[in-house]
Amino acid sequence: MLNTTFANAKFANPFMNASGVHCMTIEDLEELKASQAGAYITKSSTLEKREGNPLPRYVDLELGSINSMGLPNLGFDYYLDYVLKNQKENAQEGPIFFSIAGMSVAENIAMLKKIQESYFSGITELNLSCPNVPGKPQLAYDFEATEKLLKEVFTFFTKPLGVKLPPYFDLVHFDIMAEILNQFPLTYVNSVNSIGNGLFIDPEAESVVIKPKDGFGGIGGAYIKPTALANVRAFYTRLKPEIQIIGTGGIETGQDAFEHLLCGATMLQIGTALHKEGPAIFDRIIKELEEIMNQKGYQSIADFHGKLKSL
Ligand SMILES: Cc1cc2nc3c(=O)[nH]c(=O)nc-3n(C[C@H](O)[C@H](O)[C@H](O)COP(=O)(O)O)c2cc1C
Repeated sequence: MLNTTFANAKFANPFMNASGVHCMTIEDLEELKASQAGAYITKSSTLEKREGNPLPRYVDLELGSINSMGLPNLGFDYYLDYVLKNQKENAQEGPIFFSIAGMSVAENIAMLKKIQESYFSGITELNLSCPNVPGKPQLAYDFEATEKLLKEVFTFFTKPLGVKLPPYFDLVHFDIMAEILNQFPLTYVNSVNSIGNGLFIDPEAESVVIKPKDGFGGIGGAYIKPTALANVRAFYTRLKPEIQIIGTGGIETGQDAFEHLLCGATMLQIGTALHKEGPAIFDRIIKELEEIMNQKGYQSIADFHGKLKSL
């Protein structure tokens, strides 16, 4: 019922982890592989291993989460080795997703060159919420720098590539970004990364709740669903149809998943809710989505995918 075609490959269902959650170590990744998730993705890697920020750097909140992890990861080679060992012989059957997030444009290019030269046959996700140059915003909020990077990437990169984007909040920004993305043979766009630099405070202690950056951190979970849906919808209606969408942000229930699909997402990633509930969330959410589809008389996702009605 939930069969999904994405990047010319078949998946049993659209659900996966969001990069950064339950995918740091081989043990985490093996648990995802054994779960009901239709696909899974590795923790965004940098060329070298990183310890990340001091603790506490992640806190569960009633309506979501706040984090400032600082990109802790075991390094590019660790994850490349894992994806090479775990990719399917037939790349049409559920390819594995490999996320990278360089700390500079040069680092992103270096990692993409290594992927291109390897025999990796899966899908690469380039996380564009990475630092650019000091005094400039993260790459994806610097439109010129994003366009320049993608131009360079596609001079040599020929494997399936998606970009992970932060949320945008202005219709003109959707227009500008979509125009840039439409110039390139991208496989997909993944919206959204955490809403950046929120501040959650503990009024009793009169203090912030995470240590890095004086408590400022990325917000995920229920807080961000309306923003995530808007980003999915905005890109679905602006991108050329060859560029598919992964919907990420605030997915906790079958209904949240249904809403992302209705807005035009093809695959769905779960971050905060997976962190809270563990990989068993995939069993629950699959059942919940199927139940909604049964109630509405839908036999496949294609029956309602992208078909959000206007008033
Ligand atoms: C602890 C944590 C670590 C994350 N690390 C990454 C990462 O390495 N790469 C990335 O693209 N997104 C990362 N994210 C963002 C998530 O992939 C996701 O986009 C965001 O949390 C929104 O989804 P949610 O509402 O389901 O949490 C991280 C999020 C959390 C909570």
